[in-house]
Amino acid sequence: MTDPIVVTSECSPNIALIKYWGKSNEELILPLNGSISITLDKSVLRTKTTVVLEKNTDQSLKSTIKICLNNELQEVDETNPKSNGKQVINVKRFISVLNMVRNSCLISDPYSYNISISSNNNFPTACGLASSASGFACLALCLANAFQYKGDISELARLGSGSACRSCFGGFVKWTAHEESNKSVASVLFDHNHWPEMNILALILEDERKIVSSTDGMRDTTKTSQLLKHRVDLVERERLTQMETAIRDKDFNSFAELVMKDSNNFHAICMDTYPPLFYLNDKSKLIIRLVTEFNKLDGDNNLKAAYSFDAGPNSFIFILDKYVLDFVYLLKNINFEKSENVDKNFILSVTDDFLRLEEKISDARKAQLDDFIALFNNRFCNEKRFIKYLIHSKVGNDPLVSVNDWSVSLLKNNCKPVDK
Ligand code: DP6
Repeated sequence: MTDPIVVTSECSPNIALIKYWGKSNEELILPLNGSISITLDKSVLRTKTTVVLEKNTDQSLKSTIKICLNNELQEVDETNPKSNGKQVINVKRFISVLNMVRNSCLISDPYSYNISISSNNNFPTACGLASSASGFACLALCLANAFQYKGDISELARLGSGSACRSCFGGFVKWTAHEESNKSVASVLFDHNHWPEMNILALILEDERKIVSSTDGMRDTTKTSQLLKHRVDLVERERLTQMETAIRDKDFNSFAELVMKDSNNFHAICMDTYPPLFYLNDKSKLIIRLVTEFNKLDGDNNLKAAYSFDAGPNSFIFILDKYVLDFVYLLKNINFEKSENVDKNFILSVTDDFLRLEEKISDARKAQLDDFIALFNNRFCNEKRFIKYLIHSKVGNDPLVSVNDWSVSLLKNNCKPVDK
C-alpha cells in the first residue's frame, strides 16, 4: 500500500482596486480586462483546505471524490455531474480545475486516486464576504502540490473563479487579460511589506446572499452593456498603469482617487446592464457620503480614505495608519452603530490594540470629530443604521502550503475530519 498524499493550504480573499467584470471566454474564465487587487491578512480572514489522495487499489471500483465545505458534505460523481444533488461547490468548475491538474502533472496514473477534500473559513459565513476567491485558490494550491502539477497555479485557480487567481499570492497582485489561457495569469506587483501603512476595513452592512451572482451579473453585462467596451478600453489603456504607479510611489491621493473612480465606474456599468444590476443600497451610499465628507474634513486637498464596492452592498475602505482610528471612531459614533446581537464580534481585527482606539485619539481631534459627527448625523443620517461587522486587515502575505504534514491537516489519515 502506498501512503496517502496530504496537502494543506491557507489563502485569503482579495479586494480588487481595479475590478474584473466581464469574460471573453466563459469556459476558461478569461477576463475582458486586467485587474489589480490587495490580498487580505490570513489572521483575520482565511480559507484553510486539506486535500488527501489515496491510491484506489481496487480497479473494479470507481475512484471517489468527497468534498466537505464548512461541514457540508458532497460526493462528486465525475461521470454524471448532473447527479450531484445539492452543490456545496460549483461542480462543473471544480471538475475543470481537477482535469487541468490531472492532464498536466508528474505523478503517475493521476486518475487512479480517491480524493478527499475538507475546507473551512475562519470568518463567519454570515458576514457576507465572498469566499470563492480564497476557496478556489486554496483548492488549486492543494491539488497542484498533491499531483505535482506542471503549469501555473494561478491559471488553475482562475478556472474555479476568476478572482481566485489573485488570491494565489500575497501583497498587491495583478491579473493580466490575455486571449491565451496560460498567459492570463496573476503575479505579484509589490509584496505585503511594500506599503505597511495601508489598512483595509471591510464594513459588512448586509449578510444575505447577493441577488445576482458575479458570474451571472457579468454575463448579462457582457451581453447588454454598450458602455462596457469603453470601460475595458479605459482600464487597459490607462487605469492599470496608473494604479501600478500610484502603488509603486505610495501616492495615496492618486491611489484613492483611482480606487473610488474604478468602483464608481464598475457600478455605472452595472446600471447600464439590461435589466440593470443594483448592488449598492442606501447604506452603501451613506458610506460613500461619509468617505467623501471625511476627505474634506481637514480642508487640505489630501484624500484620507477610499471606498470600493464589489457585487454587493458591503464596503471596503482603504486608509493609511494615520487616519484609521479617526475613521473607526466616526463609524462607532455616527448613527451607524453595531447591531446588538453581534456585539462582541463587531470588530474583527489583526491588532488587539485596535479595540482600544478611543484612548489613542487626542482630545482636540476627538472634539473635531464629534463636531463632524453631529453635522453628519444632522444632514445625512438621522435614523439608526446598522453595520454588522467591521473587519480590519493589513495587506496579507503569501498563502501557506504544507505537504505531507498531518499535524496541520483538516483530515486524519483515514480521511475522517480531525476532532476539534
Ligand atoms: C466584482 O471572480 O466572483 O468582485 O469569475 O464568474 O467566478 P467568476 O466571478 P468572480 O467575480 C469577481 C467580481 C468582482 C471584481 C473583482 O474581484 O475583480
